Amino acid sequence: MTNWIQRWNSNKTGWHKNTINTRLLEFINCLALQKGDTVFVPLCGKSRDMMYFLEHGYKVVGVELSALAIEAFFVENNIEYFVQKMDKFNVYNAQNICIFCGNYFNLDVTHLNMISAVYDRASLIALPADLRAKYTQHLYVIMPNNCRMLLLTLNYPQSQISGPPYAVNEAEVALLFKTGFECEQLQCFDDIQNELKYQQANIDFIEKASYCIRKTKE
Ligand SMILES: C[S@@+](CC[C@H](N)C(=O)[O-])C[C@H]1O[C@@H](n2cnc3c(N)ncnc32)[C@H](O)[C@@H]1O
Repeated sequence: MTNWIQRWNSNKTGWHKNTINTRLLEFINCLALQKGDTVFVPLCGKSRDMMYFLEHGYKVVGVELSALAIEAFFVENNIEYFVQKMDKFNVYNAQNICIFCGNYFNLDVTHLNMISAVYDRASLIALPADLRAKYTQHLYVIMPNNCRMLLLTLNYPQSQISGPPYAVNEAEVALLFKTGFECEQLQCFDDIQNELKYQQANIDFIEKASYCIRKTKE
C-alpha cells in the first residue's frame, strides 16, 4: 500500500507536473462547463491543472490526504488561504477554490453538492484494483446526476513494472463505470517515445487514454 503522506514528506512526487496537462486542454469541452461552474478534483495533490480551471473562470473543489501538498499548492501559486474544520476534514479556503484535507472516502454529497464536473488525472490510476472499485462506487454516491467527468488513464503491461501509477485498460474502465454512468473513450494512443522511465525499463508500450463519463439518473 502506498504511503502517500510519506511520499510527500520525502519529496517523492514524480507524478507532479509543472505544466498543464495537454489532454485537459484537448478535451476540456467534454465537461460542458459554463463560467463560474465548479470542478471537483479528487486526489488533487498540488496539481497545476487546478490553476488552469481557476484562470479560466471556473471554481475548484479538491480533496487531498497531504496537508503539505495543499499548502505547497497555495504557496507556490501565491494564493492566500485560511483553514476551517469541517467534519473529518481541515478545509483550505481561498477565492474560488477550497481543498478538503483528508480522506476522499470520507466525503459525502453535502460536501460536493455544488459541483458540475469532475477532473481525474492520476487519481483512479494511483489506486490498486480493490480501491479503484471502491473509488468509482463512492464517486457514484457523491456526484450529482448528469455531472460529467474527464478521466485520464494509463495502460501498460502491468507484469513488466509495478505501480503506482497502475495500468487501467479500456475493459476495466468500462466495467468500473458500467452501472449508473455513460462512458465514452475519446482517445487512446501509445506514448512510449515520451516516457523515459518506461523506455528504460523496456516496457513494450504505454497507452494514454481519455474518457468522457456522465452520471446518469438514479
Ligand atoms: C499520483 S498523485 C496525483 C495527484 C494529482 N491528481 C496530479 O495530477 O498531480 C495521487 C494523490 O492522491 C492523494 N491521495 C491518495 N489517496 C487518497 C485518499 N484516499 N484521499 C485523498 N487523497 C489521496 C495522494 O496524497 C497524492 O497526492
